[in-house]
Amino acid sequence: MDAITEPTNRTNHSIQLARLSPAQHSDTAFYLFEEKDTTYLVKLYLHEHGDEASLREKLGLLHWRAHGFFVPGVYHRVLPQLKNPHVVMDYIQTETLADFISRHTSKAEIYPRIRQILQSNAARHRLSLQRSDASLIHSDLHPDNILIDAESFYYIDFATPHKDKSVLELVSLEVERFMIQLLRVMGKESMPSLTELLVAAYSGQEAVLTRIVEKHDLHPCIRMVKSIRESLRRDAQIRRYQLADVFKKTMNYSN
Ligand SMILES: Nc1ncnc2c1ncn2[C@@H]1O[C@H](COP(=O)(O)OP(=O)(O)O)[C@@H](O)[C@H]1O
Ligand SMILES: [Mg+2]
Repeated sequence: MDAITEPTNRTNHSIQLARLSPAQHSDTAFYLFEEKDTTYLVKLYLHEHGDEASLREKLGLLHWRAHGFFVPGVYHRVLPQLKNPHVVMDYIQTETLADFISRHTSKAEIYPRIRQILQSNAARHRLSLQRSDASLIHSDLHPDNILIDAESFYYIDFATPHKDKSVLELVSLEVERFMIQLLRVMGKESMPSLTELLVAAYSGQEAVLTRIVEKHDLHPCIRMVKSIRESLRRDAQIRRYQLADVFKKTMNYSN
Protein backbone atom coordinates (compact mmCIF):
# COMPACT_ATOMS: atom_id res chain seq x y z
CA MET A 1 0.00 0.00 0.00
CA ASP A 2 1.19 3.54 -0.67
CA ALA A 3 2.37 5.74 2.15
CA ILE A 4 0.49 9.00 2.22
CA THR A 5 3.71 10.95 1.75
CA GLU A 6 3.72 9.53 -1.80
CA PRO A 7 0.09 10.06 -2.68
CA THR A 8 -1.36 8.15 -5.54
CA ASN A 9 -4.88 8.61 -6.72
CA ARG A 10 -5.77 5.03 -7.25
CA THR A 11 -9.44 4.33 -6.95
CA ASN A 12 -10.43 0.86 -5.95
CA HIS A 13 -14.11 0.05 -5.72
CA SER A 14 -13.51 -3.56 -4.81
CA ILE A 15 -12.16 -3.00 -1.27
CA GLN A 16 -14.43 -4.83 1.14
CA LEU A 17 -14.88 -2.92 4.38
CA ALA A 18 -15.95 -4.65 7.58
CA ARG A 19 -17.45 -2.53 10.35
CA LEU A 20 -15.35 -2.65 13.50
CA SER A 21 -17.80 -2.97 16.33
CA PRO A 22 -18.92 -1.80 18.73
CA ALA A 23 -18.78 1.84 17.71
CA GLN A 24 -17.40 3.78 20.68
CA HIS A 25 -18.56 7.31 19.87
CA SER A 26 -21.28 8.60 17.61
CA ASP A 27 -18.82 11.09 16.04
CA THR A 28 -16.59 8.40 14.57
CA ALA A 29 -16.96 4.98 12.95
CA PHE A 30 -14.32 2.36 12.18
CA TYR A 31 -13.91 -0.15 9.38
CA LEU A 32 -11.28 -2.77 8.62
CA PHE A 33 -10.07 -4.13 5.31
CA GLU A 34 -7.39 -6.59 4.35
CA GLU A 35 -4.86 -6.36 1.60
CA LYS A 36 -1.88 -8.62 1.03
CA ASP A 37 -2.16 -10.19 4.50
CA THR A 38 -2.19 -6.81 6.20
CA THR A 39 -5.18 -5.35 8.01
CA TYR A 40 -5.89 -1.63 7.69
CA LEU A 41 -8.23 0.47 9.77
CA VAL A 42 -10.42 3.21 8.34
CA LYS A 43 -11.48 5.95 10.76
CA LEU A 44 -14.52 7.88 9.62
CA TYR A 45 -15.45 11.35 10.91
CA LEU A 46 -19.22 11.72 11.05
CA HIS A 47 -19.52 15.21 12.53
CA GLU A 48 -19.75 18.48 10.62
CA HIS A 49 -16.06 19.32 11.08
CA GLY A 50 -14.94 15.97 9.68
CA ASP A 51 -12.68 17.51 7.01
CA GLU A 52 -10.59 19.43 9.57
CA ALA A 53 -10.58 16.46 11.96
CA SER A 54 -9.33 14.03 9.30
CA LEU A 55 -6.63 16.49 8.23
CA ARG A 56 -5.47 16.98 11.82
CA GLU A 57 -5.40 13.20 12.26
CA LYS A 58 -3.25 12.64 9.16
CA LEU A 59 -0.87 15.47 9.94
CA GLY A 60 -0.50 14.36 13.57
CA LEU A 61 0.25 10.76 12.59
CA LEU A 62 2.81 11.84 9.98
CA HIS A 63 4.48 14.45 12.19
CA TRP A 64 4.85 12.20 15.23
CA ARG A 65 6.19 9.35 13.13
CA ALA A 66 8.71 11.70 11.47
CA HIS A 67 10.00 12.53 14.96
CA GLY A 68 10.37 8.89 15.96
CA PHE A 69 7.27 8.45 18.13
CA PHE A 70 5.27 5.27 17.64
CA VAL A 71 2.00 5.81 15.81
CA PRO A 72 0.13 3.73 13.22
CA GLY A 73 1.35 4.30 9.65
CA VAL A 74 -1.07 6.35 7.55
CA TYR A 75 -1.91 5.65 3.89
CA HIS A 76 -3.45 7.35 0.95
CA ARG A 77 -6.43 5.41 -0.25
CA VAL A 78 -9.53 6.48 -2.10
CA LEU A 79 -12.58 4.65 -0.80
CA PRO A 80 -15.41 6.01 -2.90
CA GLN A 81 -18.05 3.99 -1.06
CA LEU A 82 -17.46 6.18 2.03
CA LYS A 83 -19.17 9.56 1.90
CA ASN A 84 -17.60 10.99 5.05
CA PRO A 85 -14.01 12.19 5.47
CA HIS A 86 -11.79 9.29 6.52
CA VAL A 87 -8.22 8.25 7.24
CA VAL A 88 -6.65 4.87 6.46
CA MET A 89 -4.01 3.66 8.92
CA ASP A 90 -2.36 0.48 10.21
CA TYR A 91 -4.63 -1.63 12.35
CA ILE A 92 -2.68 -2.28 15.55
CA GLN A 93 -4.20 -5.52 16.70
CA THR A 94 -3.76 -5.17 20.41
CA GLU A 95 -5.43 -3.62 23.47
CA THR A 96 -5.72 -0.09 24.81
CA LEU A 97 -3.70 1.01 27.83
CA ALA A 98 -7.00 1.24 29.77
CA ASP A 99 -7.76 -2.45 29.03
CA PHE A 100 -4.17 -3.45 29.78
CA ILE A 101 -4.35 -1.79 33.22
CA SER A 102 -7.77 -3.27 33.99
CA ARG A 103 -6.54 -6.74 33.03
CA HIS A 104 -3.50 -6.64 35.36
CA THR A 105 -3.54 -6.36 39.09
CA SER A 106 0.16 -6.51 39.74
CA LYS A 107 2.12 -3.26 39.97
CA ALA A 108 5.18 -5.14 38.72
CA GLU A 109 3.45 -5.62 35.36
CA ILE A 110 1.85 -2.20 35.05
CA TYR A 111 4.48 0.24 36.38
CA PRO A 112 7.37 -0.49 34.01
CA ARG A 113 5.02 0.12 31.06
CA ILE A 114 3.69 3.36 32.56
CA ARG A 115 7.29 4.48 33.14
CA GLN A 116 8.08 3.77 29.48
CA ILE A 117 5.11 5.89 28.35
CA LEU A 118 5.87 8.77 30.74
CA GLN A 119 9.50 8.84 29.57
CA SER A 120 8.40 8.97 25.95
CA ASN A 121 5.93 11.76 26.79
CA ALA A 122 8.68 13.71 28.56
CA ALA A 123 11.07 13.32 25.58
CA ARG A 124 8.34 14.52 23.23
CA HIS A 125 7.54 17.49 25.46
CA ARG A 126 11.22 18.42 25.63
CA LEU A 127 11.35 18.48 21.82
CA SER A 128 8.11 20.34 21.56
CA LEU A 129 9.29 23.05 23.99
CA GLN A 130 12.76 23.33 22.40
CA ARG A 131 11.25 23.81 18.94
CA SER A 132 8.11 25.60 20.01
CA ASP A 133 6.22 22.86 18.17
CA ALA A 134 2.66 22.48 19.43
CA SER A 135 2.03 19.67 16.91
CA LEU A 136 4.01 17.32 19.16
CA ILE A 137 1.50 17.79 21.96
CA HIS A 138 -1.52 15.49 22.25
CA SER A 139 -4.71 17.38 23.00
CA ASP A 140 -6.64 14.34 24.21
CA LEU A 141 -4.20 11.90 25.78
CA HIS A 142 -5.85 9.27 27.93
CA PRO A 143 -5.54 5.49 28.40
CA ASP A 144 -7.96 4.74 25.54
CA ASN A 145 -5.79 6.74 23.13
CA ILE A 146 -2.73 4.57 23.68
CA LEU A 147 -2.49 1.04 22.26
CA ILE A 148 -0.06 -1.29 23.97
CA ASP A 149 1.47 -4.67 23.15
CA ALA A 150 4.19 -6.81 24.73
CA GLU A 151 7.05 -4.45 23.80
CA SER A 152 5.74 -1.20 22.40
CA PHE A 153 2.94 1.27 22.62
CA TYR A 154 1.31 3.50 20.01
CA TYR A 155 -0.30 6.89 20.31
CA ILE A 156 -3.59 7.34 18.45
CA ASP A 157 -6.40 9.87 18.01
CA PHE A 158 -5.01 13.18 16.79
CA ALA A 159 -8.33 14.66 15.69
CA THR A 160 -8.95 17.03 18.65
CA PRO A 161 -7.85 20.63 18.00
CA HIS A 162 -5.42 22.40 20.32
CA LYS A 163 -6.57 25.30 22.46
CA ASP A 164 -5.09 28.67 21.56
CA LYS A 165 -2.44 28.65 24.29
CA SER A 166 1.34 28.70 24.64
CA VAL A 167 3.33 25.50 24.08
CA LEU A 168 4.20 25.30 27.80
CA GLU A 169 0.54 25.67 28.70
CA LEU A 170 -0.51 22.98 26.21
CA VAL A 171 2.18 20.63 27.54
CA SER A 172 1.02 21.20 31.11
CA LEU A 173 -2.61 20.54 30.06
CA GLU A 174 -1.59 17.27 28.38
CA VAL A 175 0.29 16.12 31.51
CA GLU A 176 -2.59 17.02 33.84
CA ARG A 177 -5.18 15.37 31.66
CA PHE A 178 -3.18 12.19 31.15
CA MET A 179 -2.46 11.80 34.89
CA ILE A 180 -6.09 12.39 35.86
CA GLN A 181 -7.34 9.90 33.29
CA LEU A 182 -4.69 7.35 34.32
CA LEU A 183 -5.74 7.72 37.95
CA ARG A 184 -9.35 7.09 36.97
CA VAL A 185 -8.30 3.68 35.68
CA MET A 186 -5.64 2.90 38.29
CA GLY A 187 -7.39 4.32 41.36
CA LYS A 188 -6.64 7.31 43.60
CA GLU A 189 -4.31 5.26 45.80
CA SER A 190 -1.81 5.09 42.91
CA MET A 191 -1.32 8.87 43.00
CA PRO A 192 1.93 8.99 45.06
CA SER A 193 3.72 6.24 43.11
CA LEU A 194 2.53 7.53 39.73
CA THR A 195 3.67 11.02 40.65
CA GLU A 196 7.09 9.69 41.57
CA LEU A 197 7.37 8.13 38.12
CA LEU A 198 6.25 11.39 36.53
CA VAL A 199 8.69 13.57 38.49
CA ALA A 200 11.55 11.19 37.56
CA ALA A 201 10.54 11.24 33.88
CA TYR A 202 10.48 15.07 33.81
CA SER A 203 13.77 15.54 35.65
CA GLY A 204 15.69 18.27 33.82
CA GLN A 205 12.48 19.90 32.64
CA GLU A 206 10.91 20.90 35.92
CA ALA A 207 9.33 23.95 34.23
CA VAL A 208 6.46 21.70 33.11
CA LEU A 209 5.55 20.44 36.58
CA THR A 210 6.29 23.83 38.17
CA ARG A 211 3.81 25.39 35.73
CA ILE A 212 1.14 22.94 36.92
CA VAL A 213 1.92 23.64 40.58
CA GLU A 214 1.85 27.43 40.05
CA LYS A 215 -1.39 27.32 38.10
CA HIS A 216 -3.14 25.70 41.05
CA ASP A 217 -1.50 27.70 43.80
CA LEU A 218 -4.87 28.85 45.11
CA HIS A 219 -5.71 31.43 47.74
CA PRO A 220 -6.51 29.58 51.03
CA CYS A 221 -10.15 30.79 50.96
CA ILE A 222 -10.73 29.51 47.43
CA ARG A 223 -9.06 26.25 48.38
CA MET A 224 -11.37 25.88 51.39
CA VAL A 225 -14.47 26.45 49.26
CA LYS A 226 -13.18 23.93 46.71
CA SER A 227 -12.50 21.26 49.30
CA ILE A 228 -15.97 21.69 50.84
CA ARG A 229 -17.45 21.33 47.36
CA GLU A 230 -15.28 18.24 46.76
CA SER A 231 -16.48 16.60 49.95
CA LEU A 232 -20.07 16.93 48.68
CA ARG A 233 -19.30 15.35 45.34
CA ARG A 234 -19.87 11.66 44.93
CA ASP A 235 -17.42 10.87 42.14
CA ALA A 236 -13.94 9.77 43.02
CA GLN A 237 -12.21 11.79 40.34
CA ILE A 238 -8.99 13.57 41.25
CA ARG A 239 -9.10 17.37 40.69
CA ARG A 240 -6.27 19.19 39.01
CA TYR A 241 -5.37 21.19 42.11
CA GLN A 242 -5.16 17.98 44.16
CA LEU A 243 -2.77 16.58 41.59
CA ALA A 244 -0.73 19.80 41.72
CA ASP A 245 -0.46 19.47 45.53
CA VAL A 246 1.00 15.97 45.21
CA PHE A 247 3.38 17.16 42.46
CA LYS A 248 4.59 19.93 44.76
CA LYS A 249 5.21 17.57 47.69
CA THR A 250 6.98 15.01 45.50
CA MET A 251 9.16 17.65 43.80
CA ASN A 252 10.18 19.21 47.14
CA TYR A 253 10.95 15.79 48.53
CA SER A 254 13.12 14.74 45.57
CA ASN A 255 15.09 18.04 45.56
N1 LIG B 1 -4.99 2.15 14.43
C1 LIG B 1 -5.73 1.48 15.29
N2 LIG B 1 -5.51 0.17 15.51
C2 LIG B 1 -6.28 -0.53 16.40
N3 LIG B 1 -7.31 -0.01 17.09
C3 LIG B 1 -7.58 1.30 16.91
C4 LIG B 1 -6.80 2.12 16.01
N4 LIG B 1 -7.30 3.37 16.04
C5 LIG B 1 -8.33 3.34 16.90
N5 LIG B 1 -8.51 2.12 17.44
C6 LIG B 1 -9.52 1.69 18.43
O1 LIG B 1 -10.66 2.52 18.30
C7 LIG B 1 -10.85 3.31 19.50
C8 LIG B 1 -11.29 4.71 19.11
O2 LIG B 1 -10.30 5.30 18.26
P1 LIG B 1 -9.91 6.82 18.35
O3 LIG B 1 -8.97 7.14 17.23
O4 LIG B 1 -9.44 7.10 19.72
O5 LIG B 1 -11.30 7.50 18.03
P2 LIG B 1 -12.26 8.48 18.87
O6 LIG B 1 -11.94 9.83 18.30
O7 LIG B 1 -13.61 7.99 18.53
O8 LIG B 1 -11.88 8.38 20.32
C9 LIG B 1 -9.50 3.27 20.22
O9 LIG B 1 -9.64 3.45 21.62
C10 LIG B 1 -9.02 1.88 19.86
O10 LIG B 1 -9.64 0.91 20.69
MG1 LIG C 1 -10.07 8.26 21.28
